[in-house]
Amino acid sequence: MSTDEEHSKDRRKFIRVATIGASAVCGLFPLVSGVPAVFDPVKKGAGKKSSVPWSRVAPLASLPEDGSPAKFEVIQEKVVDAWTTYKDIPVGAVYLTRTNNEVVAFNLKCPHLGCAIDYRKQTKDYFCPCHNSSFALDGSVTTENSPSPRPMDTMETKVEKGQVWIRFEHFRPNVADKIPLS
Ligand code: FES
Repeated sequence: MSTDEEHSKDRRKFIRVATIGASAVCGLFPLVSGVPAVFDPVKKGAGKKSSVPWSRVAPLASLPEDGSPAKFEVIQEKVVDAWTTYKDIPVGAVYLTRTNNEVVAFNLKCPHLGCAIDYRKQTKDYFCPCHNSSFALDGSVTTENSPSPRPMDTMETKVEKGQVWIRFEHFRPNVADKIPLS
């Protein structure tokens, strides 16, 4: 074989190897770049504007000024599924606590398996009767070896023209992270 033929053969071999390598890298890139989003639910929604609608819950004046919780049903003005729009649908319930004009909302559903959490006036704490999880007024877990894997679920609130509004959501039960179901 002449030297020219050998050089030409080497060139073709190099181009083939380089092409296969570049294809492999290009093929892997989308897969690798998507890994953090798949495994990190926080990054999944990063940068996304919340699509959860605001629901009006109650007048601010109806909440006790001493910070004790008041229970309210949440009615969503409009719920849309694939074919139908429903109006004024009850979507859940919350405890609202007030400090001056700041309102904190806790989902009534226990983060363990979704039973309704009670507020105990005498001990000033929250209690889930299904498997005995208890929570402090700030929603933190107070039971040792708590069945509930996380604190009570809070949601975004705002006060406008004397009314309390909430972005009401449900969250995945029985996991340590607060992951919205919507
Ligand atoms: S559902 Fe509340 S403790 Fe199990």
